[in-house]
Amino acid sequence: MVLPTDVDYGPLEELIGVWTGDKGFDVSPEPDGSEENPYYETILFEGIGGVTNAESQDLTAVRYHQVVTRKSDDQVFHNETGYWMWDAKAGIVMHSLTIPRSVCVLAGGSYAKPSGSAASVTLEVAAKLGDPDWGILQSPFMRDNARTTEFRHTITISGDALSYSETTFLEIYGKSFQHTDKNELLRKPVKGA
Ligand code: HEM
Repeated sequence: MVLPTDVDYGPLEELIGVWTGDKGFDVSPEPDGSEENPYYETILFEGIGGVTNAESQDLTAVRYHQVVTRKSDDQVFHNETGYWMWDAKAGIVMHSLTIPRSVCVLAGGSYAKPSGSAASVTLEVAAKLGDPDWGILQSPFMRDNARTTEFRHTITISGDALSYSETTFLEIYGKSFQHTDKNELLRKPVKGA
C-alpha cells in the first residue's frame, strides 16, 4: 500500500505520524459518582490523500487510530478510529470518530492560519446532538441509557509535541455528566530520518 505524500493537508499535516504519551487522565461516569483513570496511549495518524465531493468541494483527509490503556492494569479500555478532514476553500476542519460503544460523532470547526510564524497549530471542533451541521449518532440503547449530547475537542501540535483535551457530555445514571480525557504525546522519530 502506498499512501500519497504530495498532498496539501493544511493544518492536518502536523498530525501525521505515530504519537505516544503516558500522561493521560480520564474521568468517566459511575452510578455512584465518577471514576478517574490515568492512562497511556498510542495514536497513529496517516495522510490518505484527497476526495472531491459533488465536483466542487475538495477535502484532504488524515485517518487515525487511537488505542488507550489503563495504567492500573495495562488493559486497553478505549479504542477509537476516524478521520480528520480539511476543507481549504471553506477554512473548515472536520473530525469524524467512531467508538465501539456504538457512538459516532461528526464534529467541525473553522480554522484560520494564525498570522506571523506561529509555532503551534490548534484545532478545535465540536458537535451537538440534533445539530444540523455537526452531530452525533448512537444506538437506541445508548440513546436511552448513556446518551451523548455534546462533544468538544481541542488538539494542539507544537513540532513533535501534541496535547489534547476533550469533553463528552453524557446523560447517564439519571444525571448529566462531563466525561473528560486529556493527554500529552510525543511523535516517534521516523527510522532512518
Ligand atoms: C481517551 C478517550 C476515552 C477514554 C479513555 C474513555 C474511557 C471511558 C470509561 C472508562 C468509561 C466508563 C466505562 C464503564 O464504566 O464501563 C467511559 C464511558 C463512556 N464513554 Fe468514554 N472514553 C474516552 C472517550 C470517549 C469519547 C470520545 C466518547 C464519545 C464521543 C465516549 C463516550 C462514552 C460513553 C457514551 C460512555 C458511557 C457508557 C458507560 O459508562 O457505560 N468516550 N469511557
